[in-house]
Amino acid sequence: MLTIGNLKLSSPFILSPLAGVSDLPFRLLNRAFGCELAFTEMIDVRSLCYGSKRTEEMLTTNKHDRPLGIQIVGNEPKYILQALEALRSRPFDILDFNAACPAKKITSKGKGASLLREPQKLQELLALIVKHSPVPVTVKIRTGWAHCLNAKEIALRAQEAGISGLFIHGRTKAQGYMGNVDYTTIAQVKKILDIPVIASGDIFSKALVEKMFNETGCDAVAVARGALGNPWIFKEMIAYHTHKSFHKPDVNDIAATMNAHLKSCADFYPHDKGIVIFRKFFNWYTKGFRNARMFREKICRTKSTKEMLTLIEEFRTIHCAAAT
Ligand SMILES: Cc1cc2nc3c(=O)[nH]c(=O)nc-3n(C[C@H](O)[C@H](O)[C@H](O)COP(=O)(O)O)c2cc1C
Repeated sequence: MLTIGNLKLSSPFILSPLAGVSDLPFRLLNRAFGCELAFTEMIDVRSLCYGSKRTEEMLTTNKHDRPLGIQIVGNEPKYILQALEALRSRPFDILDFNAACPAKKITSKGKGASLLREPQKLQELLALIVKHSPVPVTVKIRTGWAHCLNAKEIALRAQEAGISGLFIHGRTKAQGYMGNVDYTTIAQVKKILDIPVIASGDIFSKALVEKMFNETGCDAVAVARGALGNPWIFKEMIAYHTHKSFHKPDVNDIAATMNAHLKSCADFYPHDKGIVIFRKFFNWYTKGFRNARMFREKICRTKSTKEMLTLIEEFRTIHCAAAT
């Protein structure tokens, strides 16, 4: 059992926020494979105040999409408070504040990982959010900005601000998404906090999940790139956790999941936007398979659900034939 504020979770495997990926179809798909808590992608507090079609898409949820975390990013108290007001009527269970995003367009404005360089300011922002949030607040951090690994100081300050849980990506801002995960710093952070610590970084397989738990003592892990084209990762992790066996999906399983995912994208988005969105998922589902490049070229030209279904069937038949 994992307890984050008043939220009780039975699973220690969480779906991390993924910008450009974590829409309602993606969250529901992963839930169908055993994910319990899932997050929206990070949403700028200013866009929450102004509202837009894109923001509405990111926030769209339904009764099957719970428990749900919303992740916000920003650094101006005025907009943070307005964003919290705008979220008041929305159904969600956790509010996560992003102090981890390394993208230049975010850090150049003093947001995301940039706040790791302003521990006092981050603490004050978190205290403000905790005071006004209707749900438990968490923060997502990194091990540090570059060579200065100040995650411990940040974590203690965040806890003092009253947050209910801490997500930590075991890389510095300078590392982005590359290089080794720093298990030692995550372990040090876990050791000094009383609130749950949820670790992120290279959660790609059962072995790496085991390594994360063993080397850091974390309370839970957040899956990110490991779930791209691979919702089975949740089944695999649950099987590991409950000492059960896990059977890798075959090409028929993959094609059936692709069909279902495509359909929910086509239903969710207006016009042909669902097709455009699904193209990148097609590449992730087929990554590592023979002929993946040939499919990648074809996928760019696919314009309708029907064409996409035909391509998925082509992928299935080629690889079914190869397997027999
Ligand atoms: C395409 C992409 C988008 C991401 N978007 C977000 C985001 O919106 N908010 C966030 O906190 N982290 C985001 N992340 C970081 C992941 O949640 C995760 O912490 C990171 O990828 C490390 O985990 P991994 O090595 O298992 O992928 C993103 C990562 C990727 C690859």
